Amino acid sequence: MAAKLFIFYMLYFCIPSVYGMKQAPCVFFFGDSLFDNGNNNFLLTFANVNYPPYGIDYPAGPTGRFSNGKNLPDFLAEFLGFDNPIPPFATATGANILNGVNYASGGAGILDQSGAALGNVMSLNKQLINHGNTAFKMGLLLGNATRATDHLNKCLYLSNMGNNDYLSNYLMPKFYASSTLFTPQQFAEILINQYRRQLEILYKYGARKVVVFGLGSIAYIPQFRSTNESVDSINRITQQFYNKLAPLVHDLNTDLHAAQFIFINVTNFQLGDPSTTGIKVRDVPCCVVSKLTGLCDHGKTPCTNRNEYYFWDNYHPTETVYHAVATRSYAAASPDDAYPTDIRNLVRPH
Ligand SMILES: *[C@@H]1O[C@H](CO)[C@@H](O)[C@H](O)[C@H]1NC(C)=O
Ligand SMILES: *[C@@H]1O[C@H](CO)[C@@H](O)[C@H](O)[C@H]1NC(C)=O
Ligand SMILES: *[C@@H]1O[C@H](CO)[C@@H](O)[C@H](O)[C@H]1NC(C)=O
Repeated sequence: MAAKLFIFYMLYFCIPSVYGMKQAPCVFFFGDSLFDNGNNNFLLTFANVNYPPYGIDYPAGPTGRFSNGKNLPDFLAEFLGFDNPIPPFATATGANILNGVNYASGGAGILDQSGAALGNVMSLNKQLINHGNTAFKMGLLLGNATRATDHLNKCLYLSNMGNNDYLSNYLMPKFYASSTLFTPQQFAEILINQYRRQLEILYKYGARKVVVFGLGSIAYIPQFRSTNESVDSINRITQQFYNKLAPLVHDLNTDLHAAQFIFINVTNFQLGDPSTTGIKVRDVPCCVVSKLTGLCDHGKTPCTNRNEYYFWDNYHPTETVYHAVATRSYAAASPDDAYPTDIRNLVRPH
């Protein structure tokens, strides 16, 4: 029995390093629906997508990914050399957590109240509490807390937050008062200060290499095309926050010893030459959406040429777009894509 267990551990821990395929021993994802791969399936919320046609191009079908197929964490884990997706926190068990965990929750924001109108979602604060639990369990698995911290120091951390602080807060005046209480500039400052504190907590848990993603294409989502919100007015509001992310990354790298934060500027992937990805349709979603939620209607047949559509539902991109964003954040195609460097360089041993 003990020998069997030993062999299991040898296989489990040694094979990846023998072949040297994985570029980081472990990867942790924090974020919203662009990252969620199943956590919301277990929560009582409108931001729930484990039903068809979601996952129509995903081997396991509907899994809670906000996509027709794979999402950003799927592609990023592949590029980083992982054979399997990083498991959602809701189902990650045992020694699996040593490879990393995905805490992301559709509808979640930097502020706890963002997305709260959608029901029960895991805000970034709650995701960090869950990470504290993982760190504790890791200590038990590895023998003591020092070894857990050593392991956590070597992992890669990716954060995709802020979209719902606008979509399900500042830009939703029916449910939230923030836009009457704060100017866009004041609100961006509130967000960035909170985000800084949260990233510092992540650092205290041992994170050293951290990837901070910019906002998705909020101003272009089909949900706003059905109202009269202009692209320019939404962009003016969200840019206040977006423009503070690179300086935040710079400050964290200066203030925190041995920290390597990077910022991914997704602007170009979203507005760049569509012919490079084969996208032809940008203004309407591929699936039939519910007027109430903007998510795909249960069981309705979506478009067939899904790789030509930018949007899958009223908020979320298709697998094709997730692939393009993952590709350019992993290996930057322009100096504007990543600051001060891209993911590939960040994980390269120095
Ligand atoms: C943790 O384990 C390592 C290796 O066995 C040991 O050297 C170290 O002293 C332990 N640390 C604590 C805080 O117990
Ligand atoms: C959009 O603007 C047009 C013209 O200004 C107006 O007639 C229409 O009612 C507006 N629609 C919405 C959804 O606000
Ligand atoms: C992001 O990239 C765009 C397009 O190249 C550029 O105009 C913009 O200044 C960049 N934004 C930030 C915050 O780096």
